[in-house]
Amino acid sequence: MQLRTRMCVSLDGYVTTPDGWPVQVADPDWSPEAFGFVDFQKTLDAVLMGRTTFEPALGAERWPWPDLDVFVLGSRRPTGTPDHVVVDGDPERLLERVRAANSGGDVHLVGGPQTIETYRRLGALDKLGLIVVPLLVGEGLRLTPAISTDTALKLEEERPLPTGAVELTYTAEA
Ligand SMILES: NC(=O)c1ccc[n+]([C@@H]2O[C@H](COP(=O)([O-])OP(=O)(O)OC[C@H]3O[C@@H](n4cnc5c(N)ncnc54)[C@H](OP(=O)(O)O)[C@@H]3O)[C@@H](O)[C@H]2O)c1
Repeated sequence: MQLRTRMCVSLDGYVTTPDGWPVQVADPDWSPEAFGFVDFQKTLDAVLMGRTTFEPALGAERWPWPDLDVFVLGSRRPTGTPDHVVVDGDPERLLERVRAANSGGDVHLVGGPQTIETYRRLGALDKLGLIVVPLLVGEGLRLTPAISTDTALKLEEERPLPTGAVELTYTAEA
């Protein structure tokens, strides 16, 4: 398995809107299909994310990860979390649980920046994937300072999406 992000970021460098939503929801062309998440999920066994990123899924109209194992890094189990979701506050133990359940597909490290940095520091992040969305949002949460600025990145692939966003995939080398 490979642990990979596919994090959306605005042209001015923000991963959230000013009010804390993932920045892609501000794009009028946003949909999981148009941004390639539906096809991407077919390559996955599981998703892994921080508790802050996970919680809004509990109120979503549609469960975002049908057919995938879901792992959440967090010190408490949010109210209403479905039984099949694994919640653990120890990053290394949670990664062991992800690996134990894996049957060869990749694992989407959904975010946010704190959780990406946690797994990068453990040497477990294989690919840092970014989707640059053609939006300027002015303020919000950035990848840094949560993600260390000495992260070494090597461009592996670039791909325009039909919405005008550009997908960039980097190998995380350190
Ligand atoms: N643009 C995108 O594609 C995208 C994708 C995903 C998320 N986002 C955005 O990212 C924002 C959240 O990012 P975030 O970095 O603030 O939070 P996050 O990584 O989603 O979650 C943070 C939580 O995860 C747990 N955690 C993280 N690192 C840990 C560690 N080393 N040890 C133990 N627990 C740890 C803690 O949970 P406890 O507090 O329970 O202990 C912590 O409060 C949201 O606003 C979301 O909209 C954007």
